[in-house]
This record gives sequence, C-alpha cells and structure tokens, in this order.
Amino acid sequence: MLTRRTAMQSVAVGSAGLASSTFVAIGRAADSLGSIAAAHACLYGCAASTFELQNAEFASLLAREPRILVAEYEMKRTALQPHPERYDFAAADTLLRFSERKQMAFRGHTLVWHKANPPWLSDALASSRSEALLTGYIAAVAGHYRGRMHSWDVVNEALAPEDGRTDNLRNTPWLKALGPSYTDMAFHAARSADPHALLVYNDWGCEGAGAKHDRFRAATLKFLEQAKRRGVPIDAYGMQGHLQAFGAPVDQSKLRVFVDGLKALGLKVLITEHDVDDGGGPLDIAARDRAVADASRRFLDVVLDSDATIAVLTWGLSDRFLDPPDWKAALKGYNPRMLPLDAAFARKPMWQAMAASFAGRRGNQLLIRQSLLR
Ligand code: XIL
Repeated sequence: MLTRRTAMQSVAVGSAGLASSTFVAIGRAADSLGSIAAAHACLYGCAASTFELQNAEFASLLAREPRILVAEYEMKRTALQPHPERYDFAAADTLLRFSERKQMAFRGHTLVWHKANPPWLSDALASSRSEALLTGYIAAVAGHYRGRMHSWDVVNEALAPEDGRTDNLRNTPWLKALGPSYTDMAFHAARSADPHALLVYNDWGCEGAGAKHDRFRAATLKFLEQAKRRGVPIDAYGMQGHLQAFGAPVDQSKLRVFVDGLKALGLKVLITEHDVDDGGGPLDIAARDRAVADASRRFLDVVLDSDATIAVLTWGLSDRFLDPPDWKAALKGYNPRMLPLDAAFARKPMWQAMAASFAGRRGNQLLIRQSLLR
C-alpha cells in the first residue's frame, strides 16, 4: 500500500470505489469542510503530497474539501535545497499550481527547523557561524514564492522547556551555530522576502493536559511576548494540533486561557497539523472513530470559540496515505485512523465532528461552559 513512507519511491496506483458519504444535516450547498468552515469565518485545509495527486479520485476530493493546502514534504529544506548550490522547486511548484488552479490558498512549511534538513547543511552548521545559511535560504525560498503564500511557518519547533535553558529554546544546530537571536533573524528575513505572507511561529506541546504542557504553554507565551516586544514580525501562532484519542484529554479550560493569551499579544491562531492518534485503544473501529471524533471536537470547540483562530488544517485528509502500523500492531489488525476520511475516502465521525465544530462556531458557548465546570 502506498503511504507517506513509500511515497517518494513509488507512484500511486489503483483506486477504491468512492464509498458513499454520510452527510451532516446542514444542506448540500455547504457540503464540504471548506465551505462549512468558510461560512463561519474560518479556512479549512490539509497537508497534501504530490504523490497523492496521482490518484484522480483523491485529487478530486482534494479540490473539494479544503480551501487551503500545505505541502507535507515538498517544502522542507531537504527537498528544496538538496545541494548548497542547487534549489529544486519542481515538486513544491506542482502542489502550489494545483491549489491555484483549484482556487485554494497555500501555506509554506517550513523555513527553519532542526529536522528535515539536507546532510550538507548539518555539516555546514557544525563548522560555520554564517547567518547566510539561514537568511540566504529564506531570501531564496520565500522570495521564490513571494506573493503566492497565505502564510509561512517561518520557525518550527524552536522551544523545548525540557532542554533546561532559561529562554526555553530547544538545543538545536541553529541555536548552537547562530545563538538565540536566530529566530528573530528568520522572521525579519521572511518579512523582507515576502511582505504579503502571514508569518507564523509553529510548534506543538501546548494542546495537551499535564505539567509538561503547562510549562510549554507558559514558555510559548513568554517567547512570543518578548519577541513581539522586540518588534519581531510574527503575525500568528501555529498550533500543530496532534492529539491522542486515548491519552489524557485536552484540558479545555487551560487551552482557552492559552488562546486568549495569544490573542492578547495581537496574534492570530492557526491550527496547522491537526490529527488524532488512535493508537493504544480498542481495536473496534467504531469505538476508535468515536474517540478520535470526540478528541477533535473537544479541541476544536475551544480554539474555534476565539475569533483569533483563522484556519484549521489537518495533517492529511485520508487515512489511505498514513504510514502503516509497526508489525506488532499490524498483526493485531490495527491500521491508524487519524484523519477526517477513511482509507476508502468515506467521511468518518471525525469529519462530522469537525463539521459540527465549524458550524457551531458561534453557538457553542454552553458546551464549553459546561466542560469548564467539570
Ligand atoms: C512529518 C511528515 O508527516 C512525515 O511523513 C515526515 O516523514 C516527517 O515530517 N511536525 C511537523 C511536520 O511540523 O512537518 C511533521 O511532518 C510532523 C510533525
């Protein structure tokens, strides 16, 4: 089966029959997550990959459900700059052209990260303190896409309170080579390269319950507040939104306080990589789908209750292309079901939950208040 892991080596073949969709009772005209979200002042979108476009049936769904796309691989530095002297924009351009033809917006992901970097860059960062390794890349890439990006994840996952630094920065090759101001440099370089794109700081660690997430939320607000005070051009916080169906449930009260804190800093909020890991629960598909939907709803009801939230993207659209489970899980018959559409492209309870969350954007006060009382 073609998955994220095998995608780069092979091309999608075959197509399952389009399973009949179940519709929420909101009328035909509004029958996609994109249009339901749009009716409630929100962009819905998803990550996509060039190999997925080879599947005609899926490509038509990609043209129908989302209103914004983001590249799952194709805009990571390892893909865009395989060699110091050579940029390769071909695959990323294919995705962008697809979204433009279908009149969708597009997000760039990601300019600065400690992962998905080409090996030559890791070597260079170990021996050089050249800011150009960072700013030259941003100028080239954000410049190439100037005026065509809705937003850029300029810096991804730069915080790690558990690394023990007082500024809470993650101990990455970027930090070691360029010092703590590398994040400021990145945002300034992105603003000059593309003044039209919304500039996003993207991270995980603030969605969940528990002390680790409490520390992460505090660290994130502090980092963003100080950056804003220094005049760093950050427009929005990207909350990845990777949840777990059978882990500790989202603490709605703490999440709400966090989103309010972001809004108070003048930031927009985007949910950038939402999915719900259904590992660790029962094998029964209906039970897993219900837990995934409940987790998604519980999360989205809170973030969508703030007018700071402007977009929700899932990290993929269909379970078809998820990596297969490890062999132990596979022996038990477990296949991950983390996204709104199942592997046959039928809508799952998560799709319904997301639709209901978007549709209830103004009317969910009571629900949230009830959960706060628990
Ligand atoms: C992941 C992709 O989904 C994987 O298939 C790939 O092998 C590695 O990158 N946080 C991010 C995303 O910001 O870029 C990551 O995407 C998932 C975690």
